[in-house]
Order: sequence, then C-alpha cells, then structure tokens
Amino acid sequence: MNPVAILNKEHMNFADKLNQLNLFVEEEEINIPAVSHLFKEIIGAWNIHEEKENKFFNALAEHGFEFPSERIFFEHRELRGHKKVINDAIKSGSEINVEIALDTDGRMLMEKLQKHIDFEEKIFSEIPDKILNSIRDKFDKNFNKISKE
Ligand SMILES: [Fe+2]
Ligand SMILES: [Fe+2]
Repeated sequence: MNPVAILNKEHMNFADKLNQLNLFVEEEEINIPAVSHLFKEIIGAWNIHEEKENKFFNALAEHGFEFPSERIFFEHRELRGHKKVINDAIKSGSEINVEIALDTDGRMLMEKLQKHIDFEEKIFSEIPDKILNSIRDKFDKNFNKISKE
C-alpha cells in the first residue's frame, strides 16, 4: 500500500470513531468507562497517525513538494489541545466535567478534525505521481515500523 492509501484508510477509521463519539455527545447520561475506552483508542491511533504524517510531509518537502505546512502543523497542535481537555475531564472522573468537555471541545474536535482530514486528502490528491513513487518504498517500511512501536 502506498503511504497516501494508508493515511486515507486511517482517516476513515477516525471518521468512524468520531461518529461513535458523537453518539456519546448526544446522549443524556454519560457512560464514562465507555467514553474513556473510545477516547483512548482515538488518542492511540491519532498519535501514530500524526507521527506518520510528520515524516510523510517532511519527505514530501525534501522532494520539493510545497504543502501548507504551517496550517497542517498548526491544526495538529490545535486538535491536540481539544483532545487534552477531553482527556483531562475523563481523568477527573466527574460526569459533569466529561459532559461539558464533550459538549464544547468534543464538538469542536469533531468539526475541526473532519475539516482537517478533508484538507489533507485534497493535498494528498495533488502530490505528483513522480514524487509519490520516489518515496513510497521507503515509507512502506517506515510506516510499518512506526505502527509496531
Ligand atoms: Fe493531519
Ligand atoms: Fe491526517
């Protein structure tokens, strides 16, 4: 699989997880253990995904492909901020804290992550085949290595 296909597949996984998170946001009673479990999965997958993207985007830049790095990396930081707020609320064990965090940062996270994913996929689609082909072998190996760590 080429790196873009791997990253796109992971984006689909996030979309699925965000739909699950949305169900919790809309619920009256918050099931903290269930939210906590789902959120751990999201954060675990997210950290690996972001690490892959950092390497991938940097490799693209080394091969002369100009991408909007400031926006991409800014959004990564921004999304991490929302995740931290939700994670801290879950760790507090307080139902009201989790409810508030999901209602504010949860909603923002879902909206921003979807936009971020759409934006990245647009960029991925603009990478010239020549550049993608010259880095894909290296990245198959790197991505596997990152996933197993
Ligand atoms: Fe990203
Ligand atoms: Fe991404």
